[in-house]
Amino acid sequence: MKRRIFAGNWKMHLGPDDARQFIRTFLGRYRRENQRDIWFFAPASSIEAVAGLVRDRPEIMVGAQHVHWEDSGAYTGEISIPMAAQAGARGALVGHSERRHIFGETDEDTSRKVRALLRHQLQPVLCVGEKLDQRERGETVSVVERQLGALAGLDAASLGRIVIAYEPVWAIGTGRTATPQDAADVHRAIRAWFSGRGVPARGVTILYGGSVKLDNVQALLAEPEIDGVLVGGASVEAATWAAMVSVPAD
Ligand code: PGA
Repeated sequence: MKRRIFAGNWKMHLGPDDARQFIRTFLGRYRRENQRDIWFFAPASSIEAVAGLVRDRPEIMVGAQHVHWEDSGAYTGEISIPMAAQAGARGALVGHSERRHIFGETDEDTSRKVRALLRHQLQPVLCVGEKLDQRERGETVSVVERQLGALAGLDAASLGRIVIAYEPVWAIGTGRTATPQDAADVHRAIRAWFSGRGVPARGVTILYGGSVKLDNVQALLAEPEIDGVLVGGASVEAATWAAMVSVPAD
């Protein structure tokens, strides 16, 4: 049976009290299954609350949505990787499209963050994906490859530790999901990029994200190219999330 990752990106939802309530409800409803990892990318303020409740559940990980690459310093408003780790984070999203397009995160920033996460032994999840106009111009693969360029110069062992989330921007929060076939085509291109750099194609973990919901998650996971899902809107309600992570997937 293939290992599956169900990652929730809570975005700017669920402060510490709500996060605790969510996790209690979720744990009450979720029957642990082998070969399933559940990740929560919580707001910085809620990481510690979540980590405290899942400490004895190695298959459940909490991560940060955003970190700075420096360990400390005069960077008002930022959170460093050692700080996130101290709160209980075991990984972080990097280059989410909202960070790129609303807050101006560049490929240079994502490059620094991925390297810093690897240095601190936290799991980087690098988000890539094209905008609608780029897809319509046939630029999907070139945009994704440019974003993967943030990983240039890393050796195969480091590259093999990175999880990629392919999230077409036109599918995020819009109710428009890529078909399993659309996603598979891009996932294959991502695997080819990695295998050209010494990482076996099947050794790369690639999540799909963008309007994943209870009614389409099973069809997406049936596509062999998709190793897991990164879910925004449908991840912030505990009962729905418990149902999503429990769908049959093999
Ligand atoms: P969505 O968000 O599931 O609400 O489309 C996905 C994401 O932004 O990671």
